[in-house]
Amino acid sequence: MKKAFIFDLDGVIVDTAKYHFLAWQKLAHSLGISFSEEQNEQLKGVSRVQSLEKILEWGNKTISEERFSRLMSEKNEEYLSYIAKMDAGEILPDVPRILEHLILENQAIALGSASKNARAILEKVQLYDKFNTIVDGTNVSKAKPDPEVFLLGAKALGISPENCIVFEDSVAGIKAANIANMISIGIGNQEVLHEADYVFNDFTEIKEEFINQLVATKIV
Ligand code: G6P
Ligand code: MG
Repeated sequence: MKKAFIFDLDGVIVDTAKYHFLAWQKLAHSLGISFSEEQNEQLKGVSRVQSLEKILEWGNKTISEERFSRLMSEKNEEYLSYIAKMDAGEILPDVPRILEHLILENQAIALGSASKNARAILEKVQLYDKFNTIVDGTNVSKAKPDPEVFLLGAKALGISPENCIVFEDSVAGIKAANIANMISIGIGNQEVLHEADYVFNDFTEIKEEFINQLVATKIV
């Protein structure tokens, strides 16, 4: 049975979640808004525009449209300064092992990320060629938890949503996978990602046998 395995990028393939956090924190502080790790959790999987909207809301701030777009560019420039230094060493543990296993098993592999920087990051860490299709922030109009990003990936691969398995580190992403009728696998904290069908701390806990079971499961 051919299944599609759809990977989120930030916090699943690479630990860029920490760079998003640092960049948003710097921006929030420059506006006199405090910004905690818990708040950052709520920004995972959320688009750049919506993230800034949330931060302003938390800080009770209203700003002009012009300042809004300036702040978005500043955040991205700060974020890109971290990305510029990335290489394959920043791929999260055992992600290559799982990707290679899926390739060996002739399974379809997709990227489903909200990031507009996704393609550049995959190139930097030399994983671009492992994906059969890439759907990112430049392809979607609706942000997670809307399932658009994953449904587009499934469609591009010609695989029904029920036969798709999503790896996600964000609450919004798990919700999106569930709404899409896909199998959701949380990568991270069990308490945070309790809505997922399965949760693992990271890919080192995922065995080839588990992947093979998912592949073998017949959906009627
Ligand atoms: C991912 C991250 C978010 C980020 C979003 C947009 O979903 O989890 O933290 O805000 O992508 O990323 P971008 O690189 O386009 O700013
Ligand atoms: Mg993520």
